Amino acid sequence: MPEMTMQKMLQIQAKIISNIQVAENYFKMCLDASAVAQKAEPGQFIYVKVNDKYDPLLRRAFSVHRINQQPSVNSHQLKNKKKINQIEILYKVKGIGTKILSEKEKGEELDILGPLGNGFNLSAIRYPLSAILVAGGIGVAPLVFLAKKIYTHTLNAKHQILVLIGAKTKQEILCIKDFRDLGCEVRIAIENGASGKKVLVTDLLKEYLSTVNPEGQSYGTGSQLSTVIFACGPTPMLKEIAKINQEYKIPCQVSLEEKMACGVGACLGCVVKIANRKDTQKFIYKRVCKDGPVFEAQEIIW
Ligand code: FES
Repeated sequence: MPEMTMQKMLQIQAKIISNIQVAENYFKMCLDASAVAQKAEPGQFIYVKVNDKYDPLLRRAFSVHRINQQPSVNSHQLKNKKKINQIEILYKVKGIGTKILSEKEKGEELDILGPLGNGFNLSAIRYPLSAILVAGGIGVAPLVFLAKKIYTHTLNAKHQILVLIGAKTKQEILCIKDFRDLGCEVRIAIENGASGKKVLVTDLLKEYLSTVNPEGQSYGTGSQLSTVIFACGPTPMLKEIAKINQEYKIPCQVSLEEKMACGVGACLGCVVKIANRKDTQKFIYKRVCKDGPVFEAQEIIW
């Protein structure tokens, strides 16, 4: 993945504007982080110091979920109305760091580093676009920002965005309204659904790819749309998507969820194997936090 979205990292104190529970164990936090928000691209993340008194170095990585623009309080006095950019993160409480974060309150400040990593690469994409966004669980978080970016890019062009969201339970299917408000078609897969039949989001992808256009040329309603898959979720899901796509050979970008230590490329604690294009018998290591988290699906040795 070329480093198209790499930006200079900043470290700032960001005030919490809100921190609300949106589902059982899921929270949405909005931060006043204008300097970072202005540089952030979909797929990039911020590294938040959780400020636990027992572990002051404790940081957690969160994908940028949304960028909100709000007029400044004093904007009516300004000739060119100033905007304050806010960053939203959507997170699941699954350990001590996220538990501490969920207890933070409006007005508190957090030390954040960002934007970090290489996000989704939109520069090489041909428009009009047929985008297939595939989310597994909390992997939905960066895809809302991505959908908004694609929508903004393609405002005057014919395009379509299909969003496939999978989760274990109905309650964990998040962000449907965010996507529908952008005009996306949304389909969901619930692993433990009422029907008792286990449906995976990769089943939805397989079904869509096999029924709409077995030739693998175009999956849009018009034949001129160029199709790209963007996915974020647990590794087994991404691995399965890469496998399914071997048949269709559609450009496919995946955002890896890897545990991070330093978060800035220094410790090599988050490496993945990447195929050497010149010699398929060889591979190199790349860092998820610095070289990713977004990679092309076919370059990863799963
Ligand atoms: Fe240290 Fe990625 S977390 S190199």
